[in-house]
Amino acid sequence: MPKSKTRAAEKDAITLLKEDHKKIRALLGELEETSTRAVDTREELLQTIERELKIHAKVEEQIFYPAFREAAEKQDDKKLYYEALEEHHVVDTVLAELKEAAPTSDEFAAKAKVLKDLVEHYAEEEETEMLPRARKLMGRHKLLELHDRLAEAKTSLTEGVLTKLVELVRPS
Ligand SMILES: [Fe+2]
Repeated sequence: MPKSKTRAAEKDAITLLKEDHKKIRALLGELEETSTRAVDTREELLQTIERELKIHAKVEEQIFYPAFREAAEKQDDKKLYYEALEEHHVVDTVLAELKEAAPTSDEFAAKAKVLKDLVEHYAEEEETEMLPRARKLMGRHKLLELHDRLAEAKTSLTEGVLTKLVELVRPS
């Protein structure tokens, strides 16, 4: 089969980023439903959410956003770029606070809810504004190429995190 035909069925960068959002939103939904007694579940879910959020933000900041900025034509595109970075920053701040809160506290539940709302707002905005604009500005070929770079970076970041975790639990 010619390469172009096999590529046509493949996912592009936009699909990959949307799948990330969906996964993170689902995890935050699960976290919201946990009770103050489910300490282990809360801690475990929070670890997964942190890992997924950080990896997602990192590949966007290092690969996707710079590509978007490069393709940007209007001042409004640049605005989207800077807004996205600020949204990451706010998510990061609330995530750090959530990690400090005791999993048995009501404060934890409140912060988890705020984080979920923030991520939903952020994902919604990115999916309705920046990603459709990126599709117009970049075109299919560029978006496929970016998909491969994002997927590769995600794999190596995930492996890096796992190696670190193994080192932490390994008895010295
Ligand atoms: Fe995103």
